[in-house]
Amino acid sequence: MIKKCLFPAAGYGTRFLPATKATPKEMLPVLTKPLIQYGVEEALSANIDTMAIVTGRGKRAIEDHFDISYELEHQIKGTSKEHYLTEIRDVITKCTFSYTRQIEMKGLGHAILCGETLIGNEPFAVILADDLCDNTCNEGGVLSQMVKLYEKYKCSIVAIEEVPKDETQKYGVIAGTLEEEGVYKVFDMVEKPDPKNTPSNLAIIGRYILTPDIFDILKATKPGKGGEIQITDALLEQSKQGKVMAYKFKGDRFDCGSIDGFVKATNYFYEKESNI
Ligand code: UTP
Repeated sequence: MIKKCLFPAAGYGTRFLPATKATPKEMLPVLTKPLIQYGVEEALSANIDTMAIVTGRGKRAIEDHFDISYELEHQIKGTSKEHYLTEIRDVITKCTFSYTRQIEMKGLGHAILCGETLIGNEPFAVILADDLCDNTCNEGGVLSQMVKLYEKYKCSIVAIEEVPKDETQKYGVIAGTLEEEGVYKVFDMVEKPDPKNTPSNLAIIGRYILTPDIFDILKATKPGKGGEIQITDALLEQSKQGKVMAYKFKGDRFDCGSIDGFVKATNYFYEKESNI
């Protein structure tokens, strides 16, 4: 059973400067809700209630968000505005949060390794909050779908999406053999391949289930593309030692780490809320 979800949230979010100078990228709101709260709610809906967050300098707002603000509670209690706090109160009541800091931003793989103290020796989920997902089917959120798959395969799983071939240099890309509809056994993985040399157009998005042996592999992983410790390199190693599956999830994903994706997500959720 997957009980914990890790949120690597230490990155600088340079594409959103100056907004991210003093505000964590993960706290940027799509409508009224910060990106990371969407992620926590997705984990909760997959029956995961222990959130492990890897933060860094300037990220204190994340901790404050998932805590009670007594002053605000006092001000708003019994007023017509109290309902604005319903969702976040619910999240705080249902989850436990623990935090650690990544001191130097050495890449996503390194951020995940920093989370080892919070995760321990058990399989866990990973959500990159800047990939905002919404479920469009009755199979639940992306993480719920992946948790079900984990019960079957009991190995690391990455969520994938088909992207236009000329965009592969933005993603980790897999090559695999089809095991069942939408599920591949991975035999190759490349971080941000040039579209001319890409193994496929199946791009990894910000949802993973990882088995804990990934930590030892990460410890031995040398900096790769961009001088960063890449989770893609560690997963390729893991696929050679055992099994890594890739899952073409059902649902919509918005790359809220880019301005374009962020605006698309805002419009999408605005439309959705307006139609409720
Ligand atoms: P990104 O590369 O998309 O995020 O990393 P970034 O570096 O914050 O953004 P830009 O490119 O400068 O605009 C993907 C995820 O990995 C985390 C980020 O916080 C984000 O959630 N990350 C990345 C870390 O936690 N630590 C790192 O060293 C790198």
